[in-house]
Amino acid sequence: MANSVRNIAFIGSGNMASSIIAGLIDSGYPANALTATAPSQQSRDKISQRFSINAISDNQAAVAQADVIVLSVKPQIMSEVLAELSSIDFSDKLLISIAAGITIPRLQSMLGQDADFVRVMPNTPSLLGLGMSGLYAPEKISQEDKTFAGELMQAVGKICWVDSESQINSIIAAAGSSPAYFFLFMEAMQKEAIAQGFDNDTARMLVQQSAIGAAQMVAENPELELATLRQQVTSKGGTTAEAIATFNQHQLSDTVATAMQAAVKRAEEMESLF
Ligand SMILES: NC(=O)c1ccc[n+]([C@@H]2O[C@H](COP(=O)([O-])OP(=O)(O)OC[C@H]3O[C@@H](n4cnc5c(N)ncnc54)[C@H](OP(=O)(O)O)[C@@H]3O)[C@@H](O)[C@H]2O)c1
Repeated sequence: MANSVRNIAFIGSGNMASSIIAGLIDSGYPANALTATAPSQQSRDKISQRFSINAISDNQAAVAQADVIVLSVKPQIMSEVLAELSSIDFSDKLLISIAAGITIPRLQSMLGQDADFVRVMPNTPSLLGLGMSGLYAPEKISQEDKTFAGELMQAVGKICWVDSESQINSIIAAAGSSPAYFFLFMEAMQKEAIAQGFDNDTARMLVQQSAIGAAQMVAENPELELATLRQQVTSKGGTTAEAIATFNQHQLSDTVATAMQAAVKRAEEMESLF
């Protein structure tokens, strides 16, 4: 990270926290500026041995010595965790929440303070360093803090800032949930390849390698629109054209739009659970 080093406390030491810590350490962030917490000895041992960082069970102690707090516990226990921290003065600390479905006003109410929060929505490929995270910061957050939060999430992939918190739900529809859309599409292709005579592993390899190749072509040709890439591999009257025409007849584009709208609606409903 190009930014100055700040002490970071990760409250929760699970999959997502470990991935971010791995990315930070790979990018040269000093391990002695990182602390992680978890109630179980097993989780603490795992994270401290893997990264040579300080791992403790006491959330209050971790937060007290930190400049930046990354809230990386499950959403269901956020309320309990923030209530336990409410006696600490957060006026010169930055909180970054990666928990799905909890808005900043709700986080502030759980903490009982109008503290500085940045909300982040990462997705599962972050676990491989290939994540796509959406970030939102209220207006009062300084540019320096925004840069720090952005660089933190760039440790596990790419980032996209949104201007209003409600747009985080559109990030969920386009990036948070979307790896599963691609899995579904690949599943359907694998099923049909098996029906056409391939064994399971061969069918998977055919689909998997094509998906990786297609994604790589998209990434390596940023100047070409997606439609152009598609047209370039679709000869008039050929096999691909026939398959694409069939997708269009079955309104694939409308189905995708409706599915993404359903994801946004569900994200809005889930916000009311916390
Ligand atoms: N994984 C993803 O792909 C993904 C994607 C988007 C957003 N997120 C968000 O990221 C957050 C973390 O997800 P995850 O997948 O990393 O979860 P996880 O692997 O289950 O990790 C949760 C961690 O929280 C710890 N914990 C439990 N109670 C605690 C407490 N009272 N104080 C401090 N730590 C406590 C657990 O410790 P023990 O092991 O000791 O119980 C564990 O280390 C969630 O809010 C989730 O919504 C995750």
